[in-house]
Amino acid sequence: MLRDLTDDQARTALPLKWGDVEPGVLPAWVAEMDLRLAEPVEEALVRAVRLGAGYPAHGDGGLGAAFAGFADRHWGWRLPDDACVPTGSVMGGIRLALEALCPPGPVVVPQPCYPPFRDVVAVVGRELVTVDLDPDADVATLDLEGVERAFAAGARTYLLCNPHNPLGRVWTGAELEALAALARRYDVRVVADEIHAPLTLPGATFTPYLTVDETAAVVTSASKSFNMPAVHGAQLVLLDEAERERARALPVPAQNAWSALGIAAGVAAWRDGDAWLAALVERLDDNRRLLADTLAAELPAARMRPLEATYLAWVDLRAYDDDPAATALLHGLRVSPGGDYQPGLPGHVRVNLATSPARLREILQRLVTGLRRSAS
Ligand SMILES: Cc1ncc(COP(=O)(O)O)c(C=O)c1O
Repeated sequence: MLRDLTDDQARTALPLKWGDVEPGVLPAWVAEMDLRLAEPVEEALVRAVRLGAGYPAHGDGGLGAAFAGFADRHWGWRLPDDACVPTGSVMGGIRLALEALCPPGPVVVPQPCYPPFRDVVAVVGRELVTVDLDPDADVATLDLEGVERAFAAGARTYLLCNPHNPLGRVWTGAELEALAALARRYDVRVVADEIHAPLTLPGATFTPYLTVDETAAVVTSASKSFNMPAVHGAQLVLLDEAERERARALPVPAQNAWSALGIAAGVAAWRDGDAWLAALVERLDDNRRLLADTLAAELPAARMRPLEATYLAWVDLRAYDDDPAATALLHGLRVSPGGDYQPGLPGHVRVNLATSPARLREILQRLVTGLRRSAS
């Protein structure tokens, strides 16, 4: 069911992840998986390109109905079929939401964060207010006290990552309700990026943010969980019909154009991708266990909170090295430096686990070798 890419195939299929490293370096950085497309997605795309590649039709091409089916089957969330407005990429959708749907004023971004979260706030010309997680905290929380301080000081929008990249947390319903209550109290709008939701791993339960705060603007896409960022077909999920109309009526250059290929791929993924996704989640569950076991046995001073979702592990290696990503690179492994996610934060890395078990063993071997040498 899952089809692993060979190194040669990966260099063609994933030009950024595999092309942006020196020969011989294993890439475990950018969030892409070393897997071929799910068969239903591949078939939909081949069908779509066989005769042409035109503009998408007006409307959502069935994306909303396919997503509503997925949301109901996976999360018991009943959404109307017309709740989605297509957009291109998730980050483009967030930019659109901030510019066209959110009040002016400062935007709160918890850190560590996916780096474009900070960039998008700058791009739309808003003030950025960060709320930083204490790296020594046992549990990664939303730090609602810090959030409330930011709201009380005048922030108008909160950018939520649910589940969280890079912390790997799946925020609980209670945590999200508490955030929603604060947002209501201070009249703050929440924009929620839920791109990682289908990658919730066994043991955790994903709560769609709109089920606790129906005023939020959600942006999501099948692109992350089905490994297809090339085929722009993301979606805004908005529960207010008038607001959806406003979003649909935006002039073309403001819309972050989506593609007919993205819509075809997204519909196939949401509608026909369950079996593939189940196999993927099983693989990721095994891989997170392999990582945890390896760290416990080989790098016992490494700290990692439970990985509840995503294939991106956030590992605290301060006990071994101030710049473990640079050290790993010297040993043939590219991981993402923690400072990208929280400037000034030393000693953390984000490791991409979405690969074959054999390649993951090699990745971990290089990480262990590098850090042990550095510490000795
Ligand atoms: C939280 C989050 N949002 C958005 C994206 C990127 O999505 P897109 O390429 O559709 O902008 C990523 C990619 O890793 C991500 O982790």
